Amino acid sequence: MSTDTEKTQARCLCDNQMSSTDTEYSEVKSSEDAFIILKALLDAPDDFVSGSRLAKQLGISRPAVWGKLEKLREKGFDFEAVRNRGYRIIKEAEVLHPALIRYYLAKLSAEMDVLYFPVIDSTNSEADRQITYGRKSPFAIASSCQTKGRGRLGREWYSASADNLYISVLFEPKIPPQQLQHFTLWAGIYICRALQKFIPKATLQIKWPNDLHCDGRKFAGMLTEAKMDADSLRSIVFGIGINLNSNPTSFPKELRSIATSLYAVNGEEVPLNQVTASVLQAITGAYDACIQGNTTESLPEAWAPLSSLNSKPVTALQGDKEISGIASGIDSSGALLLTQPDGSTIPVRAGDVTLKK
Ligand code: BTN
Repeated sequence: MSTDTEKTQARCLCDNQMSSTDTEYSEVKSSEDAFIILKALLDAPDDFVSGSRLAKQLGISRPAVWGKLEKLREKGFDFEAVRNRGYRIIKEAEVLHPALIRYYLAKLSAEMDVLYFPVIDSTNSEADRQITYGRKSPFAIASSCQTKGRGRLGREWYSASADNLYISVLFEPKIPPQQLQHFTLWAGIYICRALQKFIPKATLQIKWPNDLHCDGRKFAGMLTEAKMDADSLRSIVFGIGINLNSNPTSFPKELRSIATSLYAVNGEEVPLNQVTASVLQAITGAYDACIQGNTTESLPEAWAPLSSLNSKPVTALQGDKEISGIASGIDSSGALLLTQPDGSTIPVRAGDVTLKK
């Protein structure tokens, strides 16, 4: 978990109702300078980087470099400073930081324009606003706290912990809307694989269609929202909330028995900014596979080893109709197949699925 000071700062985030544009402006500028400093220091973790080199790179004085490092200290970074040698990074921030996300994206050779908001109503809503301001897609909106986080089927998404990740990516695909129907499934596959690399001690799975699970509890949920023009797609916003380093004992009471976090299943924290970069890379990979067709895998084959429902008796609720059966994978349209006692299968295309007791 993060330090007490960082946590207190993070907890306060949700109490400060900032205007999104004010926050964004300061974040983008300071993020550029922070990126240059952090890149120089993180690229040479065992060496000292001289103050004059940093000053030259930033076009500012050495005392101004010191001031920038102090600002980064306030965000949870720490540096060793040695006279005549320079600075060395000794601790990274444990809460989301836009320059760190950018640094780790570059390490993965992935590119994505990321806007960070300490507090926002919903990252999906902010993505929609940004496109109306003229921002070029694709881009991501990341936040440490949502005041109106949205879940599927009009539900609320618990978004009060800065130890978690709330992120959305907006794309403008030139495709017919029906090609979109698999996107969330592909995103689940790519994100599950990406997160598994950080969690050696537990098995991460996908619960059809939009949830990521571990040990029978949900730790992440995905929500894809599309905007249409006549009968063509204008934009899609893919949003995911992931319980990363939070402790489930801090969740609202009604969530404690059904939700978990990667920290809880792994027994130790995951590197928040590195994971965020990896998730963004996974979302881009899923987009390329699903929308651009850049994959040799079939959806049912990629899904099968990750499904939490394999061979289990389940009930699907479609409107007010219940369908029961044994979950037997998905078909190429993404429908969940429920095998009936006579051996036939019923495809379930939407709705909520629960395991039968
Ligand atoms: C669900 O399981 O019901 C889907 C939850 C999706 C939550 C994420 S958090 C980031 C993005 N912004 C939102 O308002 N919702 C999604």
